[in-house]
Amino acid sequence: MGLFITMEGPDGSGKSTQIELLRDYLSGKGYDIIICREPGGTKISEAIRQVILNKDFTEMGNMTEMLLYAAARAQLVEEVIRPALENDKIVICDRFVESSAVYQGIARGMGIELVYEINQYAIGDTMPDLTIMIDIDAGTGISRKKKQAELDRMERETMEFHQRVVEGYRKIAVQYPERILKIDGSGSIEDIHGQIAAAVDKIIS
Ligand code: TMP
Repeated sequence: MGLFITMEGPDGSGKSTQIELLRDYLSGKGYDIIICREPGGTKISEAIRQVILNKDFTEMGNMTEMLLYAAARAQLVEEVIRPALENDKIVICDRFVESSAVYQGIARGMGIELVYEINQYAIGDTMPDLTIMIDIDAGTGISRKKKQAELDRMERETMEFHQRVVEGYRKIAVQYPERILKIDGSGSIEDIHGQIAAAVDKIIS
């Protein structure tokens, strides 16, 4: 079996940069790496992403939103993640079920138990071996996003929503310390990468 690593954090926490650095680090050591993102990573999941993040779909209900994320995830697990792990690859996924627990379960108020229960159908026993959570303040994250591109439906949410996301991540990191590693996102890119590389080395050995 391969190794399944997921990267979590509020919008603008620097996940993408860290995923690239981790990919280069592990490729340099000779590992076979598969990178994917959520929602997305397959033709069908990317199409679902377009629906979920469409800034004009402001009327989307919380249940619809949660089920669409779970549907995109089910397809990604079946088509990409599970086969890659069966072929001994290291899969690094930008967001996974913890994003739903935090954004839909906590920030939208649907409850994390319900979110994990529904997602059980989507992922089965394909759970990450390690989840890295980059902790950052809501203000810092969203102002970074504003500089980058046009904001999507989720990024356009209120500051209170983004604040609940930040607090939600902190909460689940305390609740599940055995599988979620919280890293302070205010450090330098190199420093954060060093901490992530050390955690991954530890789990590989
Ligand atoms: P991204 O900007 O990191 O690509 O993620 C897309 C947005 O979707 C981001 O605002 C987080 C949100 N999201 C959820 O609300 N629930 C989920 O399950 C996932 C995977 C993402």
